[in-house]
Amino acid sequence: MRSARKLPAGPAGHPNLAVVEADLLSLGDEDLQRHLRGCEAVLSCLGHVLSFRGLFLPPRDLVTRATRRLCRQVEVLRPPRPVKVILMSSVSVNHPGGLDTRRGALERALLCLLRGVLPPANDNQKAASFLYGDIGTDNPFVEWAVVRPDTLLEGDISEYTLHETLVSSLFAPGSTRMSNVAHAMCELLTNPKAWEAWKGKLPVIVNAVASAMP
Ligand SMILES: NC(=O)c1ccc[n+]([C@@H]2O[C@H](COP(=O)([O-])OP(=O)(O)OC[C@H]3O[C@@H](n4cnc5c(N)ncnc54)[C@H](OP(=O)(O)O)[C@@H]3O)[C@@H](O)[C@H]2O)c1
Repeated sequence: MRSARKLPAGPAGHPNLAVVEADLLSLGDEDLQRHLRGCEAVLSCLGHVLSFRGLFLPPRDLVTRATRRLCRQVEVLRPPRPVKVILMSSVSVNHPGGLDTRRGALERALLCLLRGVLPPANDNQKAASFLYGDIGTDNPFVEWAVVRPDTLLEGDISEYTLHETLVSSLFAPGSTRMSNVAHAMCELLTNPKAWEAWKGKLPVIVNAVASAMP
């Protein structure tokens, strides 16, 4: 991360945590390889910071470039078992294989507009397309899952569900606690059954009773 001081005190002081403070895209290939060597997984919550600079100034393809570089450097390392790449994304991202329930015409038009004016929306879609199309599902060194939360909320871990496809629309959004996203990403990493079920897929994650329990 770029600003270690933003880490909460508890996790920041954990003896098993090593924090590297860097701009991910500025790390050279050798540095990236050094950090990736021996890793079982890469969990990425990278995103454009919500400011004019973060949203509109370069790098507009932050997530795509970072994802591509991470995967390519893993391939260079040729790990004995595939590294799990788990990417936090968004329900604004369409399944690149066209496997989502079809959005309505108005919603498709809105998304098209958003991707035209908001670089992050386009970036998230391109990152998912890279994993789906370029890495695919029989890469010997990289396996992946793209986790798609709805509107992010604070709050403790609660019941949540994962879905193969979209369950709400941009006009009637659902909600997802950030803690649930973290839990689901860790579950994918540590539970082999969960990984078998979701690798190579783009699970949509929503709070179980979104309307009653935000
Ligand atoms: N916000 C929502 O409601 C929402 C909903 C669904 C999905 N999403 C998606 O979830 C993902 C994460 O979003 P978020 O809302 O959690 O974003 P966030 O809180 O702004 O977190 C983004 C993180 O990326 C880091 N970062 C940005 N540029 C970097 C760089 N060049 N090198 C290293 N680190 C960098 C930031 O570090 P610094 O703190 O150092 O800047 C920050 O830790 C995004 O893909 C977003 O589209 C968001």
